[in-house]
Amino acid sequence: MKTLHKIGLLAIASTLMLCKESPQRVFTENDITIIPKPKDLQLHKGQFEFDNDTKLVITNETQNEVAGILADHFQQVAGYNMETVEDMPSSNYIHFIYDVKVNDESYELIVEKEGIKIYAKDNGGFLYAIETIFQILPPAIEGNQKTNSQWVMPTLHIKDGPRFQHRGVMLDLSRHFFGKDYIQKTIDRMVMHKFNVLHLHLVDDQGWRIEIKKYPKLTEIGAWRVDQEDAPWNSRKINDPGEKGTYGGYLKQSDLKEIVDYAQSRNIEIIPEIEMPAHVSSAIASYPELACFDQKIAVPSGGLWPITDIYCAGKETTFTFLEDVLDEVMEIFPSDYIHIGGDEATKTNWKKCPHCQKRIKEEGLKDVDELQSYFVKRIEKYINSKGKKLIGWDEILEGGLAPEATVMSWRGTEGGLKAAQEGHDVIMTPESYCYFNFYQGPQDLEPLAFNAYLPLSKVYQFDPMVDDLKPEETQHVLGGQANLWSEYITTPEASEYMLYPRLAAMSEVLWSKKESKDWKDFTRRLEKQFERYDSMGINYSKSAYLITSTATVDMDTEEINLSLSNEFPNPDIRYVLGDDALDDNALQYTEPIKISNTTIVKASLFRQGKPIGRVFVDTIKFHRAFGKKLDFKKPFNKNYTGDGPLSLVNVIRGSKNFHDGQWQAWIPHDMEVVIDLEEPQEIHQVILGTLENQGAGIHYPTSVSVAVSTDGKNFKEVGKYTRAFSVNPNAELMDINISFNKTTAQYIKVIATNLKKSPTGGSSWLFVDEILVN
Ligand code: ACM
Ligand code: ZN
Repeated sequence: MKTLHKIGLLAIASTLMLCKESPQRVFTENDITIIPKPKDLQLHKGQFEFDNDTKLVITNETQNEVAGILADHFQQVAGYNMETVEDMPSSNYIHFIYDVKVNDESYELIVEKEGIKIYAKDNGGFLYAIETIFQILPPAIEGNQKTNSQWVMPTLHIKDGPRFQHRGVMLDLSRHFFGKDYIQKTIDRMVMHKFNVLHLHLVDDQGWRIEIKKYPKLTEIGAWRVDQEDAPWNSRKINDPGEKGTYGGYLKQSDLKEIVDYAQSRNIEIIPEIEMPAHVSSAIASYPELACFDQKIAVPSGGLWPITDIYCAGKETTFTFLEDVLDEVMEIFPSDYIHIGGDEATKTNWKKCPHCQKRIKEEGLKDVDELQSYFVKRIEKYINSKGKKLIGWDEILEGGLAPEATVMSWRGTEGGLKAAQEGHDVIMTPESYCYFNFYQGPQDLEPLAFNAYLPLSKVYQFDPMVDDLKPEETQHVLGGQANLWSEYITTPEASEYMLYPRLAAMSEVLWSKKESKDWKDFTRRLEKQFERYDSMGINYSKSAYLITSTATVDMDTEEINLSLSNEFPNPDIRYVLGDDALDDNALQYTEPIKISNTTIVKASLFRQGKPIGRVFVDTIKFHRAFGKKLDFKKPFNKNYTGDGPLSLVNVIRGSKNFHDGQWQAWIPHDMEVVIDLEEPQEIHQVILGTLENQGAGIHYPTSVSVAVSTDGKNFKEVGKYTRAFSVNPNAELMDINISFNKTTAQYIKVIATNLKKSPTGGSSWLFVDEILVN
């Protein structure tokens, strides 16, 4: 009886075991979509399946925390209660093994049918191993919805570790205030991409974001600005110092400590940036005596240039203040580094200030550049005395670099190269590859951003290890960093849009071996990454799917040649002309499309015969003035010459990117041009293509007048348009349509009146891309 019972149990147990086993899946290299790409991966035959009985075998507290992250994910998506144990079961385990021989932040992951072994020697190594596991599982593992996915992964062997030790992301909390929740979310997403440094830009002109107990006005006053969020960043007005600020916020020291703890448990070092001596209007608004002339200023609501309200380098009290502030900062952040900014100081006040001049004399300095160098060296000495190291933007090279300083090179890589050659550590973050506040797609289709272009593929091309470094200098390149400046960021979702997927590209630049970089393979893996982002609820950008176009005109054949392209390699682009639907019958794009009549062009990237991403739509409108002679009564500005003298009648339209080579511009003059149609023609409409970008000082014309003539001498006005100025936070295009009774004319005079004076000072630009005559 007893025996029988035992046998019965065994039979049931083995049936259960068989039931547990999912059908064997055949995994191929194509199923592996890990970003950043691991150093070495060998795929084997067979699979491991996770279930409720999978045991997490650990031997210490670090492993316990990491195991907890893995268990939490499975709890959320599968409802499993994976147990953490110390004794090794014979199968169905994930064994965390401390191994001193593994490099920093590295791991070895061995997946076998019986269980998983992870070898690492630190928190980072174990953490990255489980992030790799997540990326081999279905994307639903990244979410918080229960799904009935099968939690199986192929047996394999991965050896992985980072190329660079500094893999950074910078958030600008000053221009847009991000709270604790968003920062913690960003930390989770950084771990997913194997980043390990979060640089918090806590101080800038437009807001002081860290509580300093000894100087409460820094956050009572300095954390708040007058709300002008409805106006473009660079055309916000200067406020009176007495006006109460209502837009902003700050992080309490207790919040920051929580963030630091959270980051530490996820292998992320937080480097605080306390700007000096410039980008500190928020501090001077709080304590005017910190400036040379006790200026009473307001926290600016928007762009400020040049930055002349800076800390006085002559007064001792400035240094007392900064040392007090740094004491509190160093108490909160355990990082070895303190970033002191140092960028973009216009030192005109230092030239006039008696305190600064006295300092220059007493210290035997040559000029204000050397005074800034004195400033930074003195702060460095203080920071070093507390056992910490100083980082500054590459301007700290000017006037002589502080002895131990680490340079963050943003104005290209030259500053970083120079510092490395002098034996200093550097972090490369050249704006042309690393500034995620730049546009990532065609400006007409993107939210307002800083007027420069950094598409995904360009981020992927970045290499912090610049060519001119000698072998012994390469050790000084600690790594690189993506910086999200937030002048144009209004919400956490907008921030996500700018960060992802460009952070995926940056993660591969900083983590993976240089030799394994492969754009085509990256884009293959990226599409799975998008599914992971979907699971995580990230508002990522799909701009890389967008089709971009360039057009040229052949005035002899009177044809437009329209080229279409996409960031993906060998893209399957299909298009239709006219009203046809963009479907299976669309034409495959192989060479520039020749267009000689007015038409709509629709195009898209295709996958498996279906369009993906937003459809590209452009209307090419031919008109009576196409290719006709123009007589400019006032010349256009030499920096905006369009596509040449016939640009205004070349049929090719400009985009919101006013540097796109299709715009002609006038400052502060009006536009006045006469079109010669070569023979009398019946016409009834003139359309003027214009652009407004108030932040860049570009405004719509205040009036447009159309006059016609048969002899080119006597003109009669046939239509007029007027428009009053109004605040516009966006970059926008407008076609101004002037229709009139049918009339016969050979000459058409078009005058567009410039606003002349920008409402925030300076002259106004007038931009025109085309004059269409119908
Ligand atoms: C910077 O972008 N001013 C560092
Ligand atoms: Zn001074």
